[in-house]
Amino acid sequence: MKRQTVFLVVVLLFFSIPVVAPFGVARGGAPQGVPGGAGIDGEAVYRSHCLVCHSLAPPPKAAPPIKGLAKHYREAFASREAGVAYMKAFMKKPDASKAICHKEAIERFGLMPAMTLPDDELQAVAAWIWDQFDPAMTGGH
Ligand code: HEC
Repeated sequence: MKRQTVFLVVVLLFFSIPVVAPFGVARGGAPQGVPGGAGIDGEAVYRSHCLVCHSLAPPPKAAPPIKGLAKHYREAFASREAGVAYMKAFMKKPDASKAICHKEAIERFGLMPAMTLPDDELQAVAAWIWDQFDPAMTGGH
């Protein structure tokens, strides 16, 4: 029974690696002994730490929906790497003058509180948000 659980976890980890691994590799490997954030599921981080304020798609809860953020970041940054890095920095230290989302969003929802998650979790969730871009989404959010 227990052995089966361990096996399942290993299998799940194995399948989640290719999603995050390219980042770890591109950034030259492991800071702090964590293999480049491999194995961290960005969506799981989102569910535990962000979903309380950020819905995935409209209508919004207490913050702009994720798909809208992905759209703004895609418009503002040419590369996934640059967008993800900027998002990570913003989450650590939100600053109204550096926000990519519209000023009206901050007026409406207030400024986001700083996130105190480990770097590799921020990396995983930022990459996941970037990937939530939905080309079918037009207009505001
Ligand atoms: C307590 C509510 C709250 C939580 C929890 C929260 N956010 Fe936010 N977030 C906001 C609000 C409000 C804004 C809009 C104002 C702003 O940009 O600061 C925002 C904006 C953002 C932005 C846009 C920043 C920009 O450049 O304009 C990103 C990206 C983001 N959040 C990601 C996350 C992620 C990832 C998490 C979880 C790790 C998270 N947020 C958790 C409230 C929250």
